[in-house]
Amino acid sequence: MTLREVIAQAEQRAQLLSQKHGELQYVVATSKGWSCSDLLLRLDQPAETGTQAFVEHAAQQLADGYPAEYLTGYAAFCDIVVRVREGVLVPRPETENLVQMAGDFIIEQDRPSPIALDLCSGSGAIALALAARLPQVAVVGLELDAVSVSCSRESALDVGLSERVRFIQGNVLAAWSLALADFRSRTDVIVSNPPYVREQRLLPAHESSPLEPVRALYGGVSGMVFYRRIIAQARDWLRPGGLLLLEIDDGMERGILDLCERYGLQGGRWLPDLRGLPRYAEARRAE
Ligand SMILES: C[S@@+](CC[C@H](N)C(=O)[O-])C[C@H]1O[C@@H](n2cnc3c(N)ncnc32)[C@H](O)[C@@H]1O
Repeated sequence: MTLREVIAQAEQRAQLLSQKHGELQYVVATSKGWSCSDLLLRLDQPAETGTQAFVEHAAQQLADGYPAEYLTGYAAFCDIVVRVREGVLVPRPETENLVQMAGDFIIEQDRPSPIALDLCSGSGAIALALAARLPQVAVVGLELDAVSVSCSRESALDVGLSERVRFIQGNVLAAWSLALADFRSRTDVIVSNPPYVREQRLLPAHESSPLEPVRALYGGVSGMVFYRRIIAQARDWLRPGGLLLLEIDDGMERGILDLCERYGLQGGRWLPDLRGLPRYAEARRAE
């Protein structure tokens, strides 16, 4: 059988949705160390021994809701690739804008040796992509989950950034002075994509990717638990003029900007995603 036939048969047996065809091809190509164009060139050649069993297993896992990134062990984010495995949230494309915004701020400020904190750093995607973009920045990621912390440390070594990017295991909801004491009043940018899915939206979010950790999504009944804690502490950790940058869910923007004002941050505003919905919020510590 050709590779094309093996893939078609596996898709049919697993009843894989046609939208996931590209994901299966990507998983097959990655497992063989091929690019997507290598795969296209090989589709009409006889499949190698062992390929059929692998493709059938992969098709079944994708049909069961396994993210393609868990099968390959890697996720692309901005200009880098980070490791992911079960228990680690796969970084989303909309989060890439946080890296852009944080990077633009640091470039515009042009200060020596800037420091960024990535709270709830997960796979480490934001911290590593920011450091990859800006060779002058040092970044610290704080994350509760041990598997995510290991993954992010491995990725830092992969991309040669372990000198400038550190990942600490810790609880963003606790007092940061325990984990981040050195950064008090010194941080140029605090960036965070925390768990923010509110109770009402949790089931659909979980059903759309059932194998990803709920811990990475759930932000309490109103979705605001992490924002309250982060915004309440941000002013003390930012340097004068420093920036807080958050990924948010639509419908939360007013509450978040009110909190920023209440906790002494200025110039609060929200920004939209590609669909025009509120997806990011920013505010600054006064100069
Ligand atoms: C929405 S994910 C974002 C991950 C990563 N920053 C990204 O953008 O892909 C939220 C992350 O917060 C972590 N988390 C949950 N509770 C936490 C806590 N109390 N302290 C620190 N991190 C926490 C989760 O494990 C998860 O990795």
